Amino acid sequence: MPNGYEVKETILSARNISVSYGDKAILKDLNLQVKNITRPGVEQGQVIGLLGPSGVGKTTLFRCLAGLMKPDTGEILVTEKMVPVERGMVGVVAQHYPLFSHRTVVGNLAVAGRQAGLSGDEATRKAIDLLKRFGIEEQSSHYPVQLSGGQRQRVAIAQQFMCSDHFLLMDEPFSGLDLIAIQRVSDFICEIAQTDELKTIIIVTHDIDAALAVCDTVWLLGRDHDASGKPIPGARIQQICDLAERGLAWRKGHQNTPEFLVTLGEVREAFTKL
Ligand SMILES: Nc1ncnc2c1ncn2[C@@H]1O[C@H](COP(=O)(O)OP(=O)(O)OP(=O)(O)O)[C@@H](O)[C@H]1O
Ligand SMILES: [Mg+2]
Repeated sequence: MPNGYEVKETILSARNISVSYGDKAILKDLNLQVKNITRPGVEQGQVIGLLGPSGVGKTTLFRCLAGLMKPDTGEILVTEKMVPVERGMVGVVAQHYPLFSHRTVVGNLAVAGRQAGLSGDEATRKAIDLLKRFGIEEQSSHYPVQLSGGQRQRVAIAQQFMCSDHFLLMDEPFSGLDLIAIQRVSDFICEIAQTDELKTIIIVTHDIDAALAVCDTVWLLGRDHDASGKPIPGARIQQICDLAERGLAWRKGHQNTPEFLVTLGEVREAFTKL
């Protein structure tokens, strides 16, 4: 580990996870672990990317990790205490950004803040601050129906930052955003991961470039293949790319370095085989 980073206790563990829909295996004997990382004097957050092709089972795994769905076999343990995950224990930004249609943008955020234990005033103040940071303060009194897809997405992400969970799971946070909005969301993800409010962000995506730009570690989810190259049902983590170990994490502007481009090429190549 570079710069005195230390790998500590496990804070998320998925063991032997299998999920089938009917007789169709989606995930099979999937294992993964997230360990706490520290650096002298700094609370070090982490951003982990879960990458895989469409339909492979990313959202299914996301739902299991969030406690929204119970796998057929195996268990998911979270926090330093390693307790079984339950709905509500981790922050979740779902793939289709559900918002309350009868509340304004600031109202939607405030509800999340109240649920996380803030007073009405504190929740509103925090909501306005977040909307500014996401560049959507002009829409604060709009209703969800009045938002563009990208604005709606940023509101849904901001809504989760109202809570101070140690884990935040995001399903496809970059889809439908233009390059500038992706950059803005990425910068914000990096920033928030390194505050002590929130330590680990897991991003589910098929956007390889955006994932590598923002993540410290990337997990590749895919299926095994038989001798004739046909995929065998039931995905698991096929490869882990530790960007931190390669010195490619926690640095602004690293996307233009030759080291980054080499890694990007490797991950793209591995992705095509998933
Ligand atoms: N409730 C369900 N009932 C039956 N099959 C389902 C259900 N939900 C998902 N599936 C199937 O399980 C597989 C995995 O779906 P999942 O949504 O996890 O994929 P994904 O990797 O998130 O895809 P995408 O990148 O398109 O979002 C797909 O083949 C999908 O059709
Ligand atoms: Mg999905």
